Amino acid sequence: MICLGIEGTAHSICVGIVKEKNNRCIVLSNIIKIYKPEKGGIHPREAANHHATYIADLIKDSFKQSGVDTGDVDLVSFSKGPGLGPCLRTAATAARALSLTINKPILGVNHCVAHLEIGRGTLKDCIDPVLLYTSGANTQVIAFAEGRYRVFGETLDVGIGNCLDKFGRIANLSFPCGPKIEQLALNAKKYIDLPYSIKGMDIAFSGLLTAAETFYKKGEKLEDICFSIQETAFAALTEITERAMAHTEKKQVLLAGGVAANKRLCNMVNTMAKEREASFFVPEKTLCIDNGAMIAWLGVLMYNNGVRMKVENSFINQRFRTDMVDVTWRD
Ligand code: ATP
Ligand code: FE2
Repeated sequence: MICLGIEGTAHSICVGIVKEKNNRCIVLSNIIKIYKPEKGGIHPREAANHHATYIADLIKDSFKQSGVDTGDVDLVSFSKGPGLGPCLRTAATAARALSLTINKPILGVNHCVAHLEIGRGTLKDCIDPVLLYTSGANTQVIAFAEGRYRVFGETLDVGIGNCLDKFGRIANLSFPCGPKIEQLALNAKKYIDLPYSIKGMDIAFSGLLTAAETFYKKGEKLEDICFSIQETAFAALTEITERAMAHTEKKQVLLAGGVAANKRLCNMVNTMAKEREASFFVPEKTLCIDNGAMIAWLGVLMYNNGVRMKVENSFINQRFRTDMVDVTWRD
């Protein structure tokens, strides 16, 4: 089975084509186009305009890159949510148009579940992981329990990526700031105590951000602050992930989202996994960040397990929660 997936929850518009073979995911093409505002954060309507401008070319390019003909596609899937309304609508509209043009079925899928499933579909032996999903807007710990993907812990305020980007903006680093903070942290001389806030299984970053800003304005060295932000925030993320693993008795952990590119985060989670005799997985970067292949792959899993959607019912849902998905493809 071959599926073309369109991702458009936030600042990226992406098209991926995947093929299913023996229940494994083979990525045939995966094109990612990121909207980068000249200044400040993303404006949903401007991001949607960007997506509308490029989507047709991305679809053409992904056919070319994959070597797949329109007639070979069995399914079109798109990111139904969660995300920004105007961006979601643009991706869904493109998916509907394509589905009607090539006369193939359509499926809207959950973005967060797709991050987890692409790990399971492409990484050997990644079967039942706890997912630590750390991107710009999202920070969640997700695992399969009692027939659904459940959120065991999440941020109560900003996502970890946005936290890093917000501090970076204060310190005049260019966007995206996560990689620059990672580099600066390598030259730190000391750790500065920052608020570490875990509430139950949830996490919050605004106290840490305010404290980091205060230290920066007081003239503490930027390298030391960057190091301290990483050590504090990543330790808290590792702690809630470990708690979810202990609670669910799972022996695998998977990272996803742009912040998973950070070596220090990978290192901490890997160390925790080793200590629990669990295995650690992280997909290659293009499958970690928002991408169309993961949307296509989740479409395949759902379609092969009986999920169907009519074009007239292919709505988006800005608040599409992870645990709203009926997981028909797992026992
Ligand atoms: P979402 O998936 O929630 O829609 P997004 O699309 O904003 O969010 P991604 O593209 O997955 O998120 O990730 C972008 C974030 O990852 C940015 O906040 C960026 O600073 C951060 N990031 C990228 N590389 C690194 C790194 N090496 N270390 C830390 N953070 C990083
Ligand atoms: Fe994402």
